[in-house]
Amino acid sequence: MYSFTAPTDAGKAEIWRELRGAAVALTEGEPDTVANMANLAALIWQFVPRLNWAGFYRVIDGELVLGPFVGKPACIRIAIGAGVCGTAAQSGATQLVADVHAFPGHIACDAESASELVVPVLRDGVVIAVIDLDSPEVARFDAEDAAGLEALARVISPRI
Ligand code: SME
Repeated sequence: MYSFTAPTDAGKAEIWRELRGAAVALTEGEPDTVANMANLAALIWQFVPRLNWAGFYRVIDGELVLGPFVGKPACIRIAIGAGVCGTAAQSGATQLVADVHAFPGHIACDAESASELVVPVLRDGVVIAVIDLDSPEVARFDAEDAAGLEALARVISPRI
């Protein structure tokens, strides 16, 4: 059994730091990328409050394909450049969207989603996946969350 305790009374930066440490420990020495992404999605879900979806889309043959996640069933394939995830994959830049309904081309997989944070995962300068977090709260994510998820993406990149 793996037991990681998400801090409840800590600030955001501390939560992201502890999540990162847990992610490194959990994926250490495990070569199976699906197992690692599944555990990472579960870990994000456990540590980061007020989410309705957390998971991965992988770049496969020029499009995004759904990977391990926690939340309701979601769109399976997303074109590079489409929606929030496709924009992150195309630009290689984090997408911090306070109100998804104001984002042109947003893809509504779960009607509950109100705000979204998508961070590209790069390996050797190439986007290999994105990590997508959705929240039912408008403006749920801020720059500190973006920095925390970007740092997580950097450390897990070789393991997914
Ligand atoms: N809303 C995303 C699609 C993925 S789901 O949120 C899980 C987008 O616009 O790319």
